[in-house]
Order: sequence, then C-alpha cells, then structure tokens
Amino acid sequence: MTETTQRPAGTTATSSAGIAVAVRDLHVHYGEFEAVRGIDLDVRRGEVFALLGTNGAGKTTTLEVLEGFGRRSGGTVSVLGLDPATDRAALRQRMGVQLQEGGFVEELTVQETLELWQRLVDRPDRPQRLMERFELDGRRGVPVGKLSGGEKRRLDLALAVWGSPELVVLDEPTTGLDPGSRRRTWDAIQELQEAGRTVVLTTHYLEEAEALADRVAIMHAGRVAVAGTLAEIVATQPARFSATLPPGREQLPTLTGTVEYDDDQVRVRTEDLQGDLTTFLGWAAARGVRLSGLRAAPASLTDVYHSVRDGDHASDDHRDDHRDLEVP
Ligand SMILES: Nc1ncnc2c1ncn2[C@@H]1O[C@H](COP(=O)(O)OP(=O)(O)OP(=O)(O)O)[C@@H](O)[C@H]1O
Ligand SMILES: [Mg+2]
Repeated sequence: MTETTQRPAGTTATSSAGIAVAVRDLHVHYGEFEAVRGIDLDVRRGEVFALLGTNGAGKTTTLEVLEGFGRRSGGTVSVLGLDPATDRAALRQRMGVQLQEGGFVEELTVQETLELWQRLVDRPDRPQRLMERFELDGRRGVPVGKLSGGEKRRLDLALAVWGSPELVVLDEPTTGLDPGSRRRTWDAIQELQEAGRTVVLTTHYLEEAEALADRVAIMHAGRVAVAGTLAEIVATQPARFSATLPPGREQLPTLTGTVEYDDDQVRVRTEDLQGDLTTFLGWAAARGVRLSGLRAAPASLTDVYHSVRDGDHASDDHRDDHRDLEVP
C-alpha cells in the first residue's frame, strides 16, 4: 500500500486498518473490450464514498469486482482486508450489496424473499422494522416480479442494509425513486454512517453525492478522472464571478481569469477568485462604476462532472491521492 505517502495538504495519512476498500491498478476486460483501465480507489472505514461518472464509465463493473461477482483481469483489490475474488463467502457475511439490477426470484413474494434472506444472512435483523422503514409492509404478499420499479429498489435496499453490515455497496440506490423515497433512502444511508458503517454508492444525481458523500471519485471511460473530498475536487475548476455594468462599457482592468460579456453583464472564470475580484471591485470603486447583481461562487460538482465528461481532466496515471489534480 503506497497511499500514505502523498496525501494532499490538510488530510491525514491513513493506516491500512482505517481503509475499508483499497483498489490498485484495477483492470477488467470483457473479451477484447477493457471496461476498467487501471483505477486506484481508497475508501476509508466509516465514510460514504460516491462513485460518479458517465454511462458506461465502469462503475458497476468496479462494484461487481468489490462484491466478488466480477472477475478482474489485473490489479489488486482488498475489501475489509479480504480479496473478494477468493474470499467471497467470508465477505458476504460482512457486506451488504444492492445491485444495479435486482437479482431476485421474481415468483417469490416479498415475505418469502425475506424468509429466504433470513436463512442466507448471518446478521440478525427485524424484517418488520425494515418493511416499515422502506414502506413495503403492505406489499408482503406480492410476488417480487409484480412490485413497481421503486418498490423493487426499496426491497433491494432493505436486503442490502439487513443487519447493518460493516460495508454496504449500493449501485444507484435512488434511481427511479420518488422524492419521498429518495429522502428516506438518504436517511437510511446517513444512519448507516452514524452507526460507523462504510458505504460505497454510485449515483447519477450529483446533489445526492453532495448531500451524502465524504469523498467522491468521477469515472469516465474506464478511468478515475478526479477523486477527493468535494472541496478538493471543486478546487480543480476555476471559480466564477459576474456583475452587470452600467450601459456604455468601460475597459476592465487586467485580470488573470477569462472574461466574457453578455450585453452589459460581465462574467469571469478565474483560478484566483480573491485576487481578480479585489482588482475588479477596486477598479469599479476608483471609477465610481455602479455594479448590480454581483455574484461570486466556487466551481460546483456539476462543473467538475462536465469537465470530466468533456475530457478536460487527463486521467492517465491518475492516483486517488489527488496529487495530480491540476486544472488543465
Ligand atoms: N458482460 C459484459 N460484456 C461486454 N461488455 C460489458 C459487459 N458488462 C458491461 N460491459 C460494458 O462495460 C462498460 C462499463 O459498463 P458498466 O456497467 O460498468 O458502466 P456504468 O459506469 O455502471 O454505467 P451506467 O451509469 O450506465 O450504469 C460499458 O461500455 C458496458 O457496455
Ligand atoms: Mg452501472
């Protein structure tokens, strides 16, 4: 394990005991096609880690390797100190999994599925509590194949969190859920974290990652393009400020950022928000220029996501310790 040596400033080195999942140089092939092209990930114990990325980026493929369902073609993977390729039976007792597509027997009722699960999983839980929690209590007699999409998702989640396992891996837990169910799913994830569990999830909802995740990684085309805390990854993109000037445009002072005009509105993207904003406001004050609608903001997760999708982030040789997150 090499990840202790090159942490970014402000984060502490983490011993392997504090790591729930460590992935190094993971490659996965489907025949000739390489779906995962050498990724590194570290998930610390007790954190919520969100794996984001474009369709087909390799998120599900990566999770399947962590779960012991998928075969890797190269690299090393440690999950709770075990290798999922060889220790899947031992891991299953310590890890809860929600697949992107549920793997239920469609003919079994919800009740029968619960009974089956009770026999399969060592961790005790109270099915009644779970059914109430995920609002499935009235659906117990219904065959799983007849549940609505959102109900199936909630049953999946109930089984994944059954007995509060050390590690819970959720592949798009809230896709297709109505807003209330999504909120309750967030609550369940936060409760897991409060109980000291580790959660790895994928999502296409960036606000979900912002609300839940301690750290995120964004994948694109089989690689991790950026990874880190939200603050770290938004710092990889320029901040913005904008203001509307009075009619009759005056020459702006020289700024380090890029300046765009939309009629009388001026928009600046800059890596030195404080410096450029100070220059801009000083210029306006000195000339008595009255600004309206002044706004300043750091980059958002959405900005970072789109920059990854547009290929602005060079991901080759990327390491999860974020040391090479230069703005292009
Ligand atoms: N069994 C398979 N055989 C061939 N190609 C596959 C197989 N499973 C996945 N792939 C391909 O591997 C790539 C990664 O797929 P994966 O399901 O991991 O993406 P993902 O990031 O989870 O995408 P999404 O956000 O759409 O769920 C895709 O291009 C997909 O078509
Ligand atoms: Mg997927």
